[in-house]
Amino acid sequence: MCSVSEPITLVDRPPEGFRFPSGPDEPGPNYLPAEYRAVDPATRGPTAAVKPRCVFIEVTNHCNLLCETCPRTFTTYETPMTLSWENFLRVVAQFPDMTRAVLHGIGEPLLNRDLPRIIGYLKARGVSVLFNTNATLLSEDWARELIAAGLDELRVSIDGASPVTYAQIRGAPLFHKVVKNLKRFCEIQREMGATLPRPSLFMTGMKENIAEVPEVVRLAAWMGVPEVYVQRMVYYVDLKDESSAPGMMTSGHALFDDYDVIEARTLAEAEALGRELGVVLKSSGGMTPSKSLEQSQHRDGKPWSACMRPWTTAYVTANGNCLPCCISPFATNDYDSLILGNLFERPFDELWNEPRYQAWREALLSDAPPKPCAGCGVHWSL
Ligand SMILES: C[S@@+](CC[C@H](N)C(=O)[O-])C[C@H]1O[C@@H](n2cnc3c(N)ncnc32)[C@H](O)[C@@H]1O
Ligand code: SF4
Ligand code: SF4
Repeated sequence: MCSVSEPITLVDRPPEGFRFPSGPDEPGPNYLPAEYRAVDPATRGPTAAVKPRCVFIEVTNHCNLLCETCPRTFTTYETPMTLSWENFLRVVAQFPDMTRAVLHGIGEPLLNRDLPRIIGYLKARGVSVLFNTNATLLSEDWARELIAAGLDELRVSIDGASPVTYAQIRGAPLFHKVVKNLKRFCEIQREMGATLPRPSLFMTGMKENIAEVPEVVRLAAWMGVPEVYVQRMVYYVDLKDESSAPGMMTSGHALFDDYDVIEARTLAEAEALGRELGVVLKSSGGMTPSKSLEQSQHRDGKPWSACMRPWTTAYVTANGNCLPCCISPFATNDYDSLILGNLFERPFDELWNEPRYQAWREALLSDAPPKPCAGCGVHWSL
């Protein structure tokens, strides 16, 4: 087993002979997946005119890590459940217009052994498929199965460039294992001559790891990974009861709400290094991470109202509950307030424009948004 203090030596160039796929453009307005741009923002009202094209499907809510930023570590909001093949079919039958499927919720997707079959099914329907994973279980067999199934994107959560930072945030001394697994995944992909999935590293940006972003870019280049995501940590701004937020889910660990010059410099340095090494840095909303941080300086009166998710996206848990988005369960512990219906009990077609969804949308467009929305575009990137 690797010790947390064991150093890792990185070269600052991609592997010998390796060429990044012609792939990703610099982030920009058109980088946002088409599914999020399918609705004209000016037409948003309490009802949604189109059915969701992007669907988050939580293939399990079990997890094998204890991340300090994640509600799964501290709470069991729903009955522990792995989505069965039959229930997966019941979910996808309700989304005929789906073109993009994100196969994670709060849990580790590689704990669902049906995942390759699920991906294969969605690919046969012409859906673009991706998920985030902690990659601790990403064995060679998993690698071959995911590549063969036709997965489009594999986002590996890393949260740091050192074993110490990784263990501090992810709750287990598994940095070397994750790096080894993803590096081997990239090698197998090249051996198989496969251009997909597009691998990336995913960082939850916070005070503890922001200084390591440039090293994460080097790490990506070393492994042959063409993209690094840096997204500001979402944390509890609204607690249902008087309890204090658990773990690192507090403002004390989050990046400064206001522009911070050291963070800005670090991100600019990482982006420059990325340009040199051929690694693209992305944040949410089609922005670069530094642009996302800078925007927190120029927020208008209600930045959350730029959100398109409850008009374009469905989020379905392993128990069939429908939530407004993937961010909200990280922003409040009032989980019941997020459940807008259950599609194993009622058809999604009915839920989508029923009063609970309508009330969420109406509030989101107002000066008094639902509590989790009030932090979007303010404390963290939308
Ligand atoms: C909830 S996880 C589920 C997938 C998988 N278990 C994983 O860790 O990648 C999805 C993503 O959320 C990130 N994440 C965890 N806590 C977060 C927080 N408080 N704010 C924003 N993202 C967070 C994880 O690092 C991961 O990339
Ligand atoms: S972030 Fe992912 S790996 Fe970590 S506890 Fe949450 S679900 Fe598990
Ligand atoms: S919490 Fe954020 S992402 Fe979710 S619906 Fe509200 S504004 Fe949109």
